[in-house]
Amino acid sequence: MIKVIKVKDYEEASDKAFEVMKPFLVPGKVLGLATGSTPLGLYARMVKDHEENGTSYKDICSFNLDEYAGLPIEHPESYYSFMHRNLFDKIDIREENAHVPSGLGEDLEGQAKKYDAMIDACPVDIQLLGIGSDGHIAFNEPGTPFDSGTHVTDLAESTIKDNCRFFDNDISKVPTQAVTQGIGTIMKAKNILLIATGANKAQAVKDMIEGPVDVACPASILQKHENVTVIVDEAAASLLK
Ligand code: F6R
Repeated sequence: MIKVIKVKDYEEASDKAFEVMKPFLVPGKVLGLATGSTPLGLYARMVKDHEENGTSYKDICSFNLDEYAGLPIEHPESYYSFMHRNLFDKIDIREENAHVPSGLGEDLEGQAKKYDAMIDACPVDIQLLGIGSDGHIAFNEPGTPFDSGTHVTDLAESTIKDNCRFFDNDISKVPTQAVTQGIGTIMKAKNILLIATGANKAQAVKDMIEGPVDVACPASILQKHENVTVIVDEAAASLLK
């Protein structure tokens, strides 16, 4: 079931997301984390809470959704770098507990299977998601089977265009493949928190919540999950009935 929370704008969405996240910021919890513009406000609030209230991540474990294939981890746009810059380096999570899938190596599919096995051993308590303008979650583009595990995937043309802004607006610099948790992996999380803001997400939000459950909109599978909270701002909610 999807519980929809409508807020005014990005700042309010980030405040609300922090409120939903807060009960999970306790020892022993496993967080599923995302990259992109959407979670930045939430991560800033988590950092502030760590600094001001001493909330500790020493006994919290995390699994990120995805990573570009072939991008060195020290590249500023690798998701490894993104997570360190925006969250991990500013809180006290242990490096060995903060998992980001690897996009480097000879056997990406084999590594992806090991990533799923690690998640199965430490089930995610709350998975944070953004949504792509084409309805993707993580890098599960339209057409991805709902039962997929972590895998290597080609990025859709629209996603490459959307992400161009992070690569000097030069489409030739955007990686074309990624390693991503599958939809089946994401659906195993006990709770899911998806944040969508901005008018370019409005159609995807409508398809996710009001459309049929269909691989054409990967996020529509969330209708079948027991415990999903979707936080939408006015612009992203503008097409909802
Ligand atoms: C990021 C991820 C992607 C993004 C989505 C939205 O780890 O898995 O699915 O959540 O592309 O990106 P933003 O937040 O930049 O609009």
